[in-house]
Amino acid sequence: MLATSSSSSSSTAISLHPLTNYNASATPSLNPSSLSFSSSYSYLSPLSFRLHSSKTHLRITPKKGLRVSCSTNEPLKVMISGAPASGKGTQCELIVQKFGLVHISTGDLLRAEVSSGTEIGNKAKEFMNSGRLVPDEIVTAMVTVRLSRQDAKEKGWLLDGYPRSFAQAQSLEELNIRPDIYIVLDVPDEILIDRCVGRRLDPVTGKIYHLKNFPPESEEIKARLVTRADDTEEKVKSRLEIYKQNAAAISSTYSSITNKIDGNRPKEMIFKDIDSLLSQLLKDKTVKSVKPVLQTESRLDQASSNQEKWRGIPTRLNNIPHSREIRNYFYDDVLQATQRAVNDGRTRLKVEINIPELNPEMDVYRIGTLMELVRVIALSFADDGKRVKVCVQGSMGEGALAGMPLQLAGTRKILEFMDWGNYGAMGTFIKIGSIGAKEVDEEDDMFILVAPQNAVGNCIIDDLRGMTDAAGKRPVILINPRLKDLPGSSGIMQTMGRDKRLEYAASFESCYFFRLLYYAGTQYPIMGAIRMTYPYDYELYKRVDEPSGKEKYVSLSTFKERPTIDEINDVFLGKPRNKDKKASGIWGFLSGVF
Ligand code: AP5
Repeated sequence: MLATSSSSSSSTAISLHPLTNYNASATPSLNPSSLSFSSSYSYLSPLSFRLHSSKTHLRITPKKGLRVSCSTNEPLKVMISGAPASGKGTQCELIVQKFGLVHISTGDLLRAEVSSGTEIGNKAKEFMNSGRLVPDEIVTAMVTVRLSRQDAKEKGWLLDGYPRSFAQAQSLEELNIRPDIYIVLDVPDEILIDRCVGRRLDPVTGKIYHLKNFPPESEEIKARLVTRADDTEEKVKSRLEIYKQNAAAISSTYSSITNKIDGNRPKEMIFKDIDSLLSQLLKDKTVKSVKPVLQTESRLDQASSNQEKWRGIPTRLNNIPHSREIRNYFYDDVLQATQRAVNDGRTRLKVEINIPELNPEMDVYRIGTLMELVRVIALSFADDGKRVKVCVQGSMGEGALAGMPLQLAGTRKILEFMDWGNYGAMGTFIKIGSIGAKEVDEEDDMFILVAPQNAVGNCIIDDLRGMTDAAGKRPVILINPRLKDLPGSSGIMQTMGRDKRLEYAASFESCYFFRLLYYAGTQYPIMGAIRMTYPYDYELYKRVDEPSGKEKYVSLSTFKERPTIDEINDVFLGKPRNKDKKASGIWGFLSGVF
């Protein structure tokens, strides 16, 4: 492994060209990530707080809300990858213009070293000219030094062309340097060769041209364009081969944050996709930085740092009761996904989280965990100034049949007795209600429904439908709903209106999904997990025992839609995806999972 400490100390044998300052003063723009705001306002008091940046000074007066503390937004950290000539440099120009990130291109840094004849440049030259990778230790030293500069920390960074090998990716992991997103530009091989051969660079402005696709604007510019030494057809083929050999190993490190983009389109269209991904990320970071003070901040901070540590899935999920750390991780994960969905204007949402403590089919089911989850979500939205109604279905049926699903017995009382903080949220910004149209008051901004479910002989759907109709465009969030049709008390499934009921139940959009996967007929050991957080893909993980006795979850694949049992089987068996397959997979281990 590279000794990064030596590379950054003065005793290092490697000296860097001043151009490693490349782009240090990015385009002056009002970059949202560089804004900082600090202050707090108290519950129901119409105070205002200020947004500061070097360029702006805004005043914001919130209309209503609980006490909110705002912290500096964290800047974006972006990695862009793709085969030679897939358009990384071209997109980076556009990203820097819009987001003001510090662009760190290992290719550009190395070329600057070569043209200045530095020690690094002389070492790198022969590798670059033959289309091979420059040794890891040289490139990693350059990148880590550049990333540690103040401008990259403040403005955020855009890493282009690094990591390019598994060892480079591991170096970053060991230094705890991880991007928010890993963008991969996908372009067919035959197009790449033409792009490389036709590429020309302007040594004055650094702008990238293509003789056919993006010809220079004037004869004067054309006359000074240069061709890269590694842009011959033969060398491009060798670079492409090396890229392919390394790509899979690198992407396994970033699979949970990978976004593949079709790079064989006009550059503006490609940028539109990247722009919306990065804008969404910025939005998420802003939401995350507005922390509800009614919850202990250390809990959320802890959860976020654990999220980093676990890279998606906490370990030891078979240890019951779940540790506070694990519970906090999930509360935070659900909260962020739900906030993103509501901020995007989604109104019919469901959260399905099936860790052992929240799985009513397991002996270890714990109603307190469900209540805590509901409290975290409700308080957070209340902190944003929303009036939240938390609803538990009331007794259903009549006479001897009156009653409610066992899982919900007593929950309303528990909610009423719970500690909702010292800011008077309960009764003002948070109210407790039942499920039904008449529970919807004009002042309510949104509704959180605790595990609405059909019971034998009784169906909650009509009440639910009445409530969503009355709520109109206001968000209704179902937490762990169970809306499958159940047999009537006579043991006969009520068929009247069944299709409509199922159609209605399916009309809620998943904003969070987490489920553990088990081998057939056993709840030990855990086989893997599926996780989806709005608006990202479903991620499939495998649980792996490590020689040290620890365990970890390894990301296997991602899916746009929730994967079927067969799809999961195929991935676990290492088979290629087969969309037409109908019969259940040979292991049959997932029966009943969905
Ligand atoms: P580097 O400079 O990073 O080269 P690369 O990865 O091969 O990528 P390119 O710069 O060739 O292409 P690009 O994806 O940026 O495409 P561009 O936007 O220019 O690295 C060079 C060498 O340095 C490596 O071979 C290696 O030796 C060394 N090196 C670098 N990093 C290293 C590392 N981490 N470890 C070890 N060694 C390392 O576009 C290409 C052309 O297509 C242009 O002409 C452009 O105008 C055109 N174009 C772009 N977008 C479009 C579009 N949408 N439609 C049509 N044309 C387009």
